[in-house]
Amino acid sequence: MDRNLALEFVRVTEAAALSCGMWVGKGDRNGADQAACDAMRTTLNQLDIDGRIVIGEGERDEAPMLYIGEELGSKNGPKVEIAVDPVEGTNLCANGVANAISVLAAATEGEGTLMHAPDCYMDKLVVGEGAKGAIDITLPAAVNLRMIAKCLDKDVQELTVGILDRPRHERLVAEIRRAGARIRLVTDGDITLAIAAIDPMTGIDALFGIGGAPEGVITAAAVRCVGGDMQAKLVFRNSGERERAKEMVNGDLDRVLLTEDLAAGNVMFAATGITSGDLLRGVRYVADGAYTESVVMRSTTGTVRNIHTRHRFDGGPRY
Ligand code: FBP
Repeated sequence: MDRNLALEFVRVTEAAALSCGMWVGKGDRNGADQAACDAMRTTLNQLDIDGRIVIGEGERDEAPMLYIGEELGSKNGPKVEIAVDPVEGTNLCANGVANAISVLAAATEGEGTLMHAPDCYMDKLVVGEGAKGAIDITLPAAVNLRMIAKCLDKDVQELTVGILDRPRHERLVAEIRRAGARIRLVTDGDITLAIAAIDPMTGIDALFGIGGAPEGVITAAAVRCVGGDMQAKLVFRNSGERERAKEMVNGDLDRVLLTEDLAAGNVMFAATGITSGDLLRGVRYVADGAYTESVVMRSTTGTVRNIHTRHRFDGGPRY
């Protein structure tokens, strides 16, 4: 992925965050999502790419825009596969709670690929570079914790595990507590938790548990960029989901998916904060504009850039 293109993609998540920032705390998930989608679509269309959405807001008939297969960009540029989550944490945004972000991953054709993940759940285990090779999602959480702790030269008691706070995780939470590790439960946003897990400065050492499969692919792109490790398994709630997945995923649907199965080759990841959180500050409006904070990563170089941007509105368009 070309470095200039990666930086252009940050403008896309910035635009989405700026538009959606107006909806923070307004209790309207759909309004926030629509604003972010509109801005993402407009800015993606301004790029010199021949882009195609592989993970979006849903199928064409259920999503008015940024649907799977939608083509975007001027077409005067490289073929790019794009995975978007215009608002990751729509509840967080609607309630004005920390950690809502706008996020995007991309791969240029011939250099990388993103898995065309079905809209089902995915069991995920994510660690940073320090614990690369130490995880096996088929083994009990307690075993994984021991292996992660060994790699990080810590006691299990010193590990912190991020998990979505869901009834489906009751047994997992109990097992991790029995093993002695600390837990960070969040109401929403497992991409943010995973990004925290791959950043040694955050104090979160791993992400465990089931979240969305599309979010899993975007997460894998970030993991690829920083050299962390991820294992995952698709989780189906019914036969309809399994049948749909058969049309989208090659091979055994029950196999363990490795980072490279989800995001292969040269990929990039960009995110901008909507509400302030552990990783990124949210949109802050000032008299004639706003400030945003973003992160952009490329797997080609492993560079992670934190970008603080001052946007000037001057009465004109916001992106
Ligand atoms: P949305 O922003 O689409 O609401 O997703 C938030 C999220 O928490 C994701 O981070 C996570 O992967 C997924 O929802 C989990 O799904 P569920 O809320 O059904 O458990």
